[in-house]
This record gives sequence, C-alpha cells and structure tokens, in this order.
Amino acid sequence: MLRITEVARPVPGPGEVLIRIRATTVNRSDCAFRAGTPQPYARLFTGLRRPRHRILGSELSGEVEATGRAVTGFEPGDAVFGVKAWKFGAHADYICMREGAALARNPAGVSFEEAAAVCDGVILALTGLRRADIRKGRSILIYGASGSIGTAAVQLCRYYGADVTAVCSTKNLELMRSLGADHVIDYTRDDFTEDGQTYDVIFDAVGKHSFARSKGSLNPGGIYLATDHLRNLALAATTPRFGDRKVVFPIPPHYTWQDVVFLKGLMAAGKYRAVIDRRYPLETSSRRPGTSRPSRRPATWS
Ligand SMILES: NC(=O)c1ccc[n+]([C@@H]2O[C@H](COP(=O)([O-])OP(=O)(O)OC[C@H]3O[C@@H](n4cnc5c(N)ncnc54)[C@H](OP(=O)(O)O)[C@@H]3O)[C@@H](O)[C@H]2O)c1
Repeated sequence: MLRITEVARPVPGPGEVLIRIRATTVNRSDCAFRAGTPQPYARLFTGLRRPRHRILGSELSGEVEATGRAVTGFEPGDAVFGVKAWKFGAHADYICMREGAALARNPAGVSFEEAAAVCDGVILALTGLRRADIRKGRSILIYGASGSIGTAAVQLCRYYGADVTAVCSTKNLELMRSLGADHVIDYTRDDFTEDGQTYDVIFDAVGKHSFARSKGSLNPGGIYLATDHLRNLALAATTPRFGDRKVVFPIPPHYTWQDVVFLKGLMAAGKYRAVIDRRYPLETSSRRPGTSRPSRRPATWS
C-alpha cells in the first residue's frame, strides 16, 4: 500500500543540500521495492518484515532550499536534478542529498519533469554499455528499446556512433526512429533471431530475452548484455571461459555526479532527451484514503 502522510522535513548535514522536489518518477526499482519481489530473496534488501524504505522514489528534480555549512557547489534557488538510488526518499516534498552525490544543476531549457526522468535509465544503460566497447563501426541490437534503460541505450549508442537496431512493439516504432535508431524491428511481427542478421552486442534492456535464444545472432566475440535474472550472473561467470560469445551482467551500478554532469552536457547540446509516457499530477492522483481531499503537494510524477 501507498499512502500520503506528514513526516518531519529533513535537515541537511554540513555537506548536504536540502532540495524541494518539483518532479519525480515511478520506476521499476520503486515497484520492485514496494512489492518486495522477486520473493523470497528480494526481501533481504527491501526489508524482511516491513519495507526498509518507507518513502520510495529515486529520481528527482527540484530547487535547492538550503545548504549545509560545508557545501560550496550549490546555492539556495539552484534548479537541480539527480538520483538517490538504493536509499530512495524522492516521493516527498523534501529530500537531503550529499553535495558529492549523483546530483547536478539542471540543463538550461529543460523542465523539472524532463530532468527528473533521465538519470536512472542513463546510468543503468551507461553501466552496461561501458563494458561493451560501444563506438563507431560496432553494431548493437537493443531489446526492450522503448523502456527506461532502452530509450537511454538507443540515444547513448547513437551518440557514440554505433549502428543501432531497436526492438520494440508496434506503438513505439516511431519513437525509436525519433531517438535515432538506424533500424527498427517490431517484435510482435518479426523475430530478430530468425532474420540472419548478426550483431557485436545484444543488449537485453528489459529482461525478456535470453543468451540461449540470441546467441546465434551474435558475431564471433559478441556480447550479450543482461539487466535482469540470476541465471545471467552464472552465465557471466562461465561464458567468458567457453566459446567466443559471452554474457556480461554489470551490477550493481555506481551512481555518480560525473555521470549526471555528463548527461547534463548531452541534454544541453540537444543530444539526449527525456521520454515520458505518462504524467500524474499529485493534486489529482493522490488522495488521502477514505477522503476526496486532493493532496496539496505540488510535485509531478512522471
Ligand atoms: N541491473 C540493475 O541494476 C537494474 C536496475 C533496475 C532495473 N533493472 C531491470 O532492467 C529491466 C528494464 O527496466 P526498465 O526500467 O528499463 O523497464 P521499463 O521502463 O518498465 O521498460 C518496459 C519496456 O519493455 C518493453 N517490453 C515489455 N514486454 C516486452 C517483451 N516481451 N519484449 C520486448 N520488450 C518488452 C515495453 O515496451 P514495448 O511496448 O515497446 O514492448 C516497455 O517500454 C528490467 O528487467 C529491470 O528488472 C535492472
């Protein structure tokens, strides 16, 4: 269950900034931590008897309200964006983050909603792509290209100059072209494993494919990049020793301010944009249980 409740406003420590959140997102990690799935082992991280993190939400954008006395890089009034992965707390009016955490000033001309919707997918995608030598002359197929990690991977691979094939459902084909994919495959009509094409990298950005099924579509020396499923951990340990195609499962990602600043630069240069499928204003979507009174909170969830 989720409910709206009043909690004490956090107080920034000497090296922290207090941010008034203007927009946040609901992503796969929020859903998994709320549900405590996959069971039973997920509960070791999400909380054995009750949720370890009472306020979910990792991505955010907002305004710096106050700074600790040791903070030199931010000032009250700065528009900022970032991600507080693993510790959460962004589904709230206020949050404290360390000055050196995954946080940066918003790129000029980018709204709070757009800035809130980019960090998690990009940093997860970058973590994988860095292990796969993505550059001009290399070919990559991105499966689940329309999701959070997938839309980030398409745009990053395009930025690095690789030849990008995006796989998604019919309704997202145009989106893929608009993000710069060189080739687009509709998985509801075509199976990429049967068309004879091969790739240097296959990035399963949504955990719905497998190394076994896609191995035949990898070039010699090819990499299957995984984002999900314990079996891929075992394959990542064994496949580099046998054969010439291997699984890479880069976990856990390290969320850094350097990556957020890199992303800021891409957005400012018009080389990266947020993809938002739905927006939920809290004024209308969040009501206290049993009442019709809308929340007074101003933030937007994307
Ligand atoms: N490794 C980590 O640290 C980490 C952290 C967070 C998440 N994850 C994992 O990363 C994966 C992706 O997360 P995400 O946040 O990017 O997900 P997401 O935003 O929820 O992406 C869902 C997308 O997957 C596509 N999809 C659904 N079923 C599909 C199918 N059968 N075949 C192909 N595409 C399908 C949908 O688009 P279409 O309608 O176009 O199919 C949708 O856009 C998940 O498996 C998640 O568990 C890993």
